Amino acid sequence: MKKVYVTRLVPDEGLDMLKQECKVEVWEGELPVPRDVLLEKVRDIDGLYCLLSERVDAELLAAAPHLQVVSNMAVGYDNIDVDACTARSIPVGNTPGVLTDATADCAFALLMAAARRIVEGADYVRAGRWKTWGPMLLMGQDVHAAVLGIVGLGRIGQAVARRARGFDMRVLYHDLYVSDVPPALKVTGVGLDTLLAESDFISLHVPLTEETYHLIGAGELRKCKPTTILVNTSRGGVVDADALYRALRDGEIAYAALDVTEPEPLPADHPLLSLSNCIVTPHIASASVVTRTRMAVIAAENLLAGLRGESLPHPVKVQ
Ligand code: GLV
Repeated sequence: MKKVYVTRLVPDEGLDMLKQECKVEVWEGELPVPRDVLLEKVRDIDGLYCLLSERVDAELLAAAPHLQVVSNMAVGYDNIDVDACTARSIPVGNTPGVLTDATADCAFALLMAAARRIVEGADYVRAGRWKTWGPMLLMGQDVHAAVLGIVGLGRIGQAVARRARGFDMRVLYHDLYVSDVPPALKVTGVGLDTLLAESDFISLHVPLTEETYHLIGAGELRKCKPTTILVNTSRGGVVDADALYRALRDGEIAYAALDVTEPEPLPADHPLLSLSNCIVTPHIASASVVTRTRMAVIAAENLLAGLRGESLPHPVKVQ
């Protein structure tokens, strides 16, 4: 029987599929498996079922002589050195598609929570500060009819654009690679500088690559309006967190709502968390029961296909 290591407890639907065909060991800790333990565990496994908290690199591959397949239970795979896997003919799978809508829902929830200061309002009530209806209490910004700038118009960016249509927003996008934008989306492609200058809301949907690392830094934030709200559900590294802190503190932009940060987890004493105009959630954009279950199943399908020597249903790179 093939041996599989699963780096965290994931929904049963995925684990059960693996258990029917393989000898499965699961890291059951709440925190990620320590690196030294992982390097030890991969010594005799055939398949690795991992999460974005595990770094799969040349060192790990060198420690795993029998490894046949790496399956990441995530759509993003910046934690995996795909070239190193490819060089060893190890296919890598991810979970695209199934988390598109859940992630777009969350991006929109963050956008609206920031615009209408929902978290501040809830904290205000909980702190016993609500004494009367206030004509100027916690005034925020309108979402309807505002301009939304989407950076990265892939599956998730397009799903956010569809939601924006329901709010009568004008949607701009910046994407150097997208080719077939459905006309029904009614989005306008612009350069990044125009998007930064004209958007009331900016939502990031690019993968983290060398090209997108710190795509939003001090210079970009300076080009935004002082009323701009930045939403990030992509990867923390796309935004320079120090520059963002300064821009929020100095009023260069109005608000940030981040589901992803650099580093992750964000320490409780991080300067961003001292700001009332910044909301941070713990990388939960795809965390609905249905979506995480589907992700677990797709990751299991990828892993099992790889172990059988078949093409993965969702390879990150066709070999
Ligand atoms: C989550 O961030 C994912 O990439 O699936």
